[in-house]
Amino acid sequence: MTGSTTAEGAAAREAAPAETSADSRPYSPGLAGVLAGETAIAVVDGERGRLFYRGYPIGELVERGTFAQVAELLWTGEWPGKATLVAEPAPPAVLNSLRLLPPESAPMDVLRSAISTWGAIEKLGWPPTVEQARRLTAIAPTALAAFGRLRQKKDPVEPDPSLPLPANFLYMLNGERPDEASARALDAYFIVAAEHGFNASTFTARVITSTRSDLASAVCGAIGALKGPLHGGAPSGVVDQLHEIGSVDRAEEWIRGALDRGERLMGFGHRVYRAYDPRAAALRKVAESMTGMADWLDLAVKVEDIALRLLAERHPERPLKTNVEFYTAAVLQGVKLPPEFYPATFALARNAGWTAHAIEQAAADKIIRPDVRYVGPPERHLPG
Ligand code: ACO
Repeated sequence: MTGSTTAEGAAAREAAPAETSADSRPYSPGLAGVLAGETAIAVVDGERGRLFYRGYPIGELVERGTFAQVAELLWTGEWPGKATLVAEPAPPAVLNSLRLLPPESAPMDVLRSAISTWGAIEKLGWPPTVEQARRLTAIAPTALAAFGRLRQKKDPVEPDPSLPLPANFLYMLNGERPDEASARALDAYFIVAAEHGFNASTFTARVITSTRSDLASAVCGAIGALKGPLHGGAPSGVVDQLHEIGSVDRAEEWIRGALDRGERLMGFGHRVYRAYDPRAAALRKVAESMTGMADWLDLAVKVEDIALRLLAERHPERPLKTNVEFYTAAVLQGVKLPPEFYPATFALARNAGWTAHAIEQAAADKIIRPDVRYVGPPERHLPG
């Protein structure tokens, strides 16, 4: 009961639908262009193709930093002189829960389930802390790699504390220590994938945190949002596309055909970037430094040139440039990660950004609860 008199309540009920349906406040579908919060974590400058974490340009972070340092930067706001982030062994309850999943489960579903189980064991309190963020980020690769082994009827591999987190993931998945170039390349990928402003999954994590729910719940929700094909990216689509094109001499005809059929070229276009995606530029350099990638890169670079030229012809009004997925495909292929693991590997890296945002949201401690315009029927009553 609200304390209003019966007559007041009836009057309010009568007025409500009529008033709300006449609501003339501006509404932006998809919240496009709406400022929905404040953050000090990252800025995405779509017009000029720039991305900064805590003020540092992404290219500089990839060239001179490690994922462990970048994660600390995102969580604490300051550049750490040195940082280590060691993969944590998966608790028995998490391993047992993974054993119950069908081997054909999507790795994103597996990761979400593993973090949910871990959260149930840990009984994380509120507000989220940097220590919780470190532990969640450190356990996720162990759990995902363990599933990769179990689905092949192999035993999980314990983390090697001497390896950086991304290299450890490859080690626990394959049972072999990756070579230095692959380790460095995956570390660079984790850096560029770690954070990207108020995207759908990050916003989801913030909404959940704003209710004073725990960090594992926020990350499970974020993984659910990232799983959707409009958000989760398209690097395996890029791989398929380059396989279909096959050789440079077929590229122009193939791309023209795809555009004539109204298809989208994977790895091009972005909701925010109108310029070359700075993450694609950073990953292109990384891919070029990897061994065994020459043929793939030769094809990719030439396909990219032709695609950019033809996209500019078709859409002179809208700049459609290379996005991060184009060279992500090269790097993840180069480190020999199975394509079905690409989206979940993205989530392993983005754990750093999601958890940083959860910590920032908890500090603001304001529940996110926007208004909605009512467009349903006016007040009516049940028959009889
Ligand atoms: N290939 C061909 N045409 C394209 C492409 C593309 N990759 N991207 C956009 N267009 C065209 C659209 O067909 C549309 O043309 P129209 O106006 O004649 O209908 C026009 O450009 C505008 O497209 P929108 O859908 O309004 O662009 P939006 O900003 O909503 O979409 C998106 C962005 C989803 C990334 C889109 O560019 C796309 O589908 N790209 C291909 C898939 C891809 O690479 N995804 C990864 C994105 S990066 C990430 O998720 C981390």
